[in-house]
Amino acid sequence: MKFVIMPDYDQMSRAAADAIVEQLTDKPDSVLGLATGSTPIGMYASLVSDVEAGKVSFADVSTFNLDEYLGLEPTHDQSYRYFMNDNLFDHVDIDKARTHVPSGIGDAMEEICEDYEAKIALAGGIDLQVLGIGNNGHIGFNEPREDFPVMTHTIDLTESTIEANSRLFDSIDEVPRQAVTMGIGTIMGARRIIVVANGKGKAGIVAQAFTGPVVPEVPASVLQLHPNVTVFLDAEAASELDM
Ligand code: F6R
Repeated sequence: MKFVIMPDYDQMSRAAADAIVEQLTDKPDSVLGLATGSTPIGMYASLVSDVEAGKVSFADVSTFNLDEYLGLEPTHDQSYRYFMNDNLFDHVDIDKARTHVPSGIGDAMEEICEDYEAKIALAGGIDLQVLGIGNNGHIGFNEPREDFPVMTHTIDLTESTIEANSRLFDSIDEVPRQAVTMGIGTIMGARRIIVVANGKGKAGIVAQAFTGPVVPEVPASVLQLHPNVTVFLDAEAASELDM
C-alpha cells in the first residue's frame, strides 16, 4: 500500500487525477471503476480540465460505478447515475453506452446484481478502481458487518451512513434506506485501486483502516491485502497516520 499525502484537497485531487491520466495514457481502453461522494468531485473536475486541454481522452474508456441507491430513478438529482453524468460523463468524450451504474430500480435485484458482475467480467475486469471511504470505513456501500460480502449485492444502509448522506437530501427521511453495491470481492478483483480521502473528519478512520487490523467491521481494511493500492490523502486526513 502506497500513500501520497498532499498539503490540501486541490493538490490531492490533482494527484489522484494524474494517476488516472497515467492509466489512460498507458491503456486508452481501460475499464475504470468509479465512486461518487464529495471526495472525488475535485478529481473529476481535474479530469474534465485535462480532456478540455487535450491531455487525455475517454473515447475508448468503459466505466463501472460502485453503487446506487435503491428506488432512485437515474434522473433523480441524488442518484449516482445523475452524479456521474453531472460531474464527469457529460463533460468528457466518453461513449455513455460504455458507462455503467448498477440499477436500483425494479424487483429483480438479484438478476441485476448477477448481470452487473457478468458485464464487468465481459469487459475484461476493472483496470483501475477509484474508492472513497465512509466515516464508518465502508467502501462502496459495503457497511461494517461480520463478514466480507463477495459479489454485487443489495444492502441496508447503516444509521451513520444515512445520517452522513442526509446532507445532500432535503431531509433525512428522503435518504433511501437500501442500496446496491459491488462486493468486496468485486473491488478486490480490480488490478489497481486508488483511494481518495480528505479532511480532519476522515483522519481516524483512515488510520484505523490502513494501519489497523484487517477486519470486516472496518471494510476498507481489506485493501491492505491488495497488491496495488495507492491512498491519496490531504494533510488533514493523514494527520492520525503513524507511519
Ligand atoms: C460512493 C461510495 C461511498 C463513498 C463514501 C465517502 O460511490 O461508494 O463509499 O466513497 O461514502 O463519501 P464522501 O466522499 O462523500 O465522504
